[in-house]
Amino acid sequence: MRKKASAWLALALGVGMALSGCSSSNSSSSDDAKQGSQKAGEKLEIFSWWTGAGEEDGLKALIKLFQEKYPDIEVENAAVAGGAGTNAKAVLASRMQGNDPPSTFQVHGGAELNEGWVAAGKMEPLNDLYEKEGWMDKFPKALIDMVSKDGNIYSVPVNIHRGNVLWYNKKVFADNGLQPPKTFDEFFQVADKLKAKGITPLALGDKEPWAATHLFENVLLGTLGTENYKKLWTGELSFNDPQVKQAVETFKKMLGYINEDHSSRNWQDAAQLVAEGKAAMYVMGDWVKGYFVNDLKLKVNQDFGYVPVPNTEGKFMVITDTFGLPKGVKNPDDVKKFLSVLGSVEGQDAFNPLKGSIPARIDADPSKYDEYGKQTMQDFKTAELAPSLAHGSAAPEGFVTKVNQAVNIFVTQKDVKTFIDTLASAAAELKK
Ligand code: GAL
Repeated sequence: MRKKASAWLALALGVGMALSGCSSSNSSSSDDAKQGSQKAGEKLEIFSWWTGAGEEDGLKALIKLFQEKYPDIEVENAAVAGGAGTNAKAVLASRMQGNDPPSTFQVHGGAELNEGWVAAGKMEPLNDLYEKEGWMDKFPKALIDMVSKDGNIYSVPVNIHRGNVLWYNKKVFADNGLQPPKTFDEFFQVADKLKAKGITPLALGDKEPWAATHLFENVLLGTLGTENYKKLWTGELSFNDPQVKQAVETFKKMLGYINEDHSSRNWQDAAQLVAEGKAAMYVMGDWVKGYFVNDLKLKVNQDFGYVPVPNTEGKFMVITDTFGLPKGVKNPDDVKKFLSVLGSVEGQDAFNPLKGSIPARIDADPSKYDEYGKQTMQDFKTAELAPSLAHGSAAPEGFVTKVNQAVNIFVTQKDVKTFIDTLASAAAELKK
């Protein structure tokens, strides 16, 4: 699936211009004391969407580690709130357009990086850093490929999140004599029993529409299997394929089991329903584990359990958050220092246990991770890897935006034909 970078950038910028006025960056409180010691423009500005509950703990730990190592470099934590980069990506696009890049920014490995910022000529290659740090055999090849284009490497992965996880409330399942579902059929059997007891079977918080896309892409993976799912993004499989229709029908049926107030909740609010036992299950990436454990103080495998999303056992929906070096920044050496801490074992093991993700490096210390983390590290080694659409790896940002819009309409209108037609025409445009 290819798209002209210029067209992609134009779309991203359009959204960016519209949104840049309504979002703002925050300085990290831990850094405020140092402000004024250096001229503006020399600060190391770290741009992400990791603010607030379930998002910021890992980043703060990483920044703290960096500041211990480089006390003379002033850091600004320039995070813009909004799950999956809902607002941050737009603000970033507007800044990049205005030749005002942050020193470094969060970007998903895959198309979001390569077909977006790299294709637009906005990123510096980091091959020298990888060589200097001896990283070529420290990150899985699959991951290095996701941050490379035409033989150059453009960012450093801080983590691997798993997208295809079904989280469930242990007590609700035990009280109702239920087992977590492994197939879509089992999902609907369990969901019917829960519904009969007055419990919301499935939590959804699609105030930010990506959360519904996240559910949909998991149903696509579970229905099509890894190979065909991947073919959707290379254009080898059409959205008009009967398997896609089947996935859309399953997705539609699932939407019959969600909380009524889904459109007023964000991903954390929806997770709360499961934490409180008001809903039984939740399909979400494992940043939820960070939120459950660090913010809500729930216990892994006691208060909540987890299984792969139905029909996706042995598959791993990969999401990787990475940071790179934009062209034109004033402090490239400081940025590289930050990237080398972020890419170190120490950096990864400071960040990931709090974030819910597993380290991107293969030589991180498993003892720093809980049962969920250890299991996920094992699963990553053997599973079939599938790139996430909702989180930027499978297709360029312009396409993701269109899918988010189409999914958002589908959740309300549930018109299968219109939804598939919209997906197919968006995909056709991409191939032009
Ligand atoms: C993803 C990102 C995760 C997490 C999540 C919710 O796109 O990769 O790190 O932040 O969004 O905001």
